[in-house]
Amino acid sequence: MPTNFKLKPQDFGENFVWGVSNAAYQTEGAYNVNGKGLSIWDDFTSQKGKIHNNEHANVAVDFFNKYKEDILLMKSMNIPNFRFSLSWSRIIPDGNGEVNQQGIDFYNRVINFCLECNITPWVTLYHWDLPLALEKQGGWTNRAILGWFEKYTTLCANTFGDRVKHWMVLNEPMVFTGAGYFLGVHAPGKKGLKNFLPAIHHATLCQALGGRILKKTVKNGIIGTTFSCSQITPYKNTRKHNLAAKKADTLLNRLFIEPLLGMDYPTESLPVLKRLKAYIKPGDDKLSEFEFDFIGIQNYTREVVKHSYFVPYIQAKIIKASKRQVETTLMDWEVYPPSIYNMIKQFNQYKNIKKLIITENGAAFTDVVKNENIEDTKRLNYFKSHLEQVHKAQQDGLNIDGYFAWTFTDNFEWAEGYKARFGLVHVNFSNQKRTIKSSGKWFKSFLENL
Ligand code: NOJ
Repeated sequence: MPTNFKLKPQDFGENFVWGVSNAAYQTEGAYNVNGKGLSIWDDFTSQKGKIHNNEHANVAVDFFNKYKEDILLMKSMNIPNFRFSLSWSRIIPDGNGEVNQQGIDFYNRVINFCLECNITPWVTLYHWDLPLALEKQGGWTNRAILGWFEKYTTLCANTFGDRVKHWMVLNEPMVFTGAGYFLGVHAPGKKGLKNFLPAIHHATLCQALGGRILKKTVKNGIIGTTFSCSQITPYKNTRKHNLAAKKADTLLNRLFIEPLLGMDYPTESLPVLKRLKAYIKPGDDKLSEFEFDFIGIQNYTREVVKHSYFVPYIQAKIIKASKRQVETTLMDWEVYPPSIYNMIKQFNQYKNIKKLIITENGAAFTDVVKNENIEDTKRLNYFKSHLEQVHKAQQDGLNIDGYFAWTFTDNFEWAEGYKARFGLVHVNFSNQKRTIKSSGKWFKSFLENL
């Protein structure tokens, strides 16, 4: 999709935030050193057959040791904001007991080095790597997670809040509950409604709880949380396909934001959610609400959905992009830039969202290194065409205040392992060498006169 891209960062306004995102488990490695406890991802990846090629992130891209090199590279690429996550089990190895000072020291080093380099740290508290010890007690299905999460959040806010002002509570709750507690394709590999429903409700409560704690504890804090979202298009404009699309939209795009905004769970549009009642206690509706300073949305593609009698609970089925003769990424996700525009628009329809930021957007393609260069034209076009849509949204008067590219360096892409490279910077996984791709060089020149 060739674009004749002419935009400059200034066209997005001077307060627009630019940055890159990554996550602890996908980059840090050092999975069992300096007192770190195991997480559900350390455990899941150690089981045969769960991950492409049985890969794991025990070393990942060695961010634990290479953080200075990576942050310096980021600085050299004019990137002003860096979103990363904290590993709960590096900080509290069993999730709820002793604090591991060496884990705290590591994040202090990362945070301080960002600040030294004039890069603002944006910290996500929970990007999917629950301490394994907590999973053994039920993890997200156990309501006790409210107490565990409160302790972890309070500690992080007290320890890092003097320097970190930008926080996000959860990363994509729909994905970690759906893939991890319903489909079983992500850690901890649990399946079925009996796991999914309590996980949904406890994540909803922790999302708001985390927001309240951070707001109260971090002086001048700017507190947010993030959601995955994809435009849902019905396969055909008929009643049953439209209904299927509405149900998919409810599950994928509305489930976690609506109770947060005081609207309750969207049970009207997806009746199976009525079964959440079994886990809801009196007063939980109020406890699910919180007014965040910003909402992060993460968009990669759109989904085309058709009616299917055979899919339980939802009677809706996603039609794979590879079956639709469209341009796709290596994840088999359709390249469909208007999706980001339409999701910005959809989230703008909610009242009470103070600020909306794209906290992730990016694409995986096969990158070939040729004479020390990586000409990742498809990724470059992906970024440009999505930024055009973000700009168009702004021009149309929609609230949109920032853009973080996913991701800085190539890293461990969950069930897909290392084959799906999303980075602006290429990593040779055998020697950890970093090489800036064409897309990274372009991002650098784009951000030059910020
Ligand atoms: C969303 C997740 O937050 C991130 O961890 C993942 O790597 C990207 N999407 C790409 O799939």
